Amino acid sequence: MRETKLELYRELAEQLRALLATEPDRIANAANMAALIYHGLPDLNWAGFYFRRGGELVLGPFQGKPACVRIPLGNGVCGTAASRGATVLVPYVHDFPGHIGCDPASRSELVVPLIERGEVSGVLDLDSPLLARFDEGDQAGCERLVVLFVDHHREHSA
Ligand code: SME
Repeated sequence: MRETKLELYRELAEQLRALLATEPDRIANAANMAALIYHGLPDLNWAGFYFRRGGELVLGPFQGKPACVRIPLGNGVCGTAASRGATVLVPYVHDFPGHIGCDPASRSELVVPLIERGEVSGVLDLDSPLLARFDEGDQAGCERLVVLFVDHHREHSA
């Protein structure tokens, strides 16, 4: 049993680095990252990406049940995180005005924006069937994973 959440996210970051390694394909890497997170973090029922296409977010690689495909910027937790360019942590989704319920089992949610060259290019979305599953440790850990993903693709698209 790991001692701390910090340690768990450190391990996930190492595993993500190894998975990304020299692979430049963004979709393949997003798919592996979604799988790594879904199977590496306890109590999730969905983990994956939405990528920005103009004024909306479009579903990307994920693990979990089928989800809504298009989310206008500003809508739901994902669209709010994308339009703010900041992480949104929701302890109880039914208290979040405009929450988009893809799976009725979801009770808490964490959405981290992908910021590339100062612009939001998408979001990483995690859902849990537990109330208040995510805390500041999860936020910091997931933000770190997203930075690894974004930096890797900046280096490989230069
Ligand atoms: N609940 C999200 C929609 C995406 S699904 O959870 C996979 C939202 O409110 O933006």
